[in-house]
Amino acid sequence: MKPMISISHALSQLDWKKEPYGLYAPIAYTLEAGGKRLRPTLALIACRMFEGDEQQVLPAALALEIFHNFTLLHDDVMDKALIRRGRDCVHVKWNENTAILSGDQMVIEAYKQLSQLPALYLPKVLHLFNTMATQICEGQQYDVDFESRSHVRLDEYMEMIRLKTSVLLATALQIGAYMAQADEPTQQKMYDLGIALGLAFQIQDDYLDCYGDPVSFGKAVGGDIREGKKTWLYITALNQGADRSILDSHQVEPVLQEYNRWKVPALALEQIHQLTNRALEILDTLPQNEASEALRALAQQLVQRQK
Ligand code: IPE
Ligand code: IPE
Ligand code: MG
Ligand code: MG
Ligand code: MG
Repeated sequence: MKPMISISHALSQLDWKKEPYGLYAPIAYTLEAGGKRLRPTLALIACRMFEGDEQQVLPAALALEIFHNFTLLHDDVMDKALIRRGRDCVHVKWNENTAILSGDQMVIEAYKQLSQLPALYLPKVLHLFNTMATQICEGQQYDVDFESRSHVRLDEYMEMIRLKTSVLLATALQIGAYMAQADEPTQQKMYDLGIALGLAFQIQDDYLDCYGDPVSFGKAVGGDIREGKKTWLYITALNQGADRSILDSHQVEPVLQEYNRWKVPALALEQIHQLTNRALEILDTLPQNEASEALRALAQQLVQRQK
């Protein structure tokens, strides 16, 4: 298969060496730290699946990645996280004001990328992007609200992660397909595939937050437990009969023991597989070519991921 455009290279071409350094240096720091580049990759693969022009989609792909990175700056403040991608979070290396303002500027940078799209595509891409951006804020608010609620049902959790995580993957796939002129029903299938993949992705993230290796995961393990997050593991443990007072102690070791006692990690892996299979079933109904194979391989790799 023809190599994909390098997102990291394209990001490195953007100029952040400008004043005030306090605003731009944290953006450079964040974007150069790597990450899986999942969302722009999805946009480019979707474009390739329908034989579109990848160069044309590139600004949208960059916008998706920059916007994703913005959410991480603010998310780490909200979650009191200290480490991301194996390095200090921006609010730790600088301070919270920096994470807020550089994050705000990243949103603007994302829209600057979008403004470079061909005029023909801009109205719909903007509509898709804005809808997604609002939904992420809604999901993040539910995530925070759930911390102080004693009862959160699994369906409420699934809706929260659909909003905070899935819609970004789904929108990346839809934008790639739309700009390659896939028809509406096909775009919708790509979107739905992204939703299923995103749900699997976030439950995997919840799983790795408990059972990952902090070095490969690049984040501190146990953060969700300490913060009292209503994760898939927490809600499932309670549904299985776990002791609420242990889960609400926010003590990492006892909570992990309680999860293990109720076989929560195996149930999480099972759920991740089911949701990934749902995504792959949708993929089976779409055109089969090298790009759809790459998407299948990517979905299968994500199930195995350690980071
Ligand atoms: C982290 O996203 C936020 C979640 C939705 C779990 P990623 O796990 O894709 O983070 P990077 O970009 O690869 O670091
Ligand atoms: C991520 O959820 C969702 C967004 C950033 C919008 P998490 O809070 O679980 O992501 P990580 O684990 O910090 O990357
Ligand atoms: Mg977080
Ligand atoms: Mg969070
Ligand atoms: Mg997480």
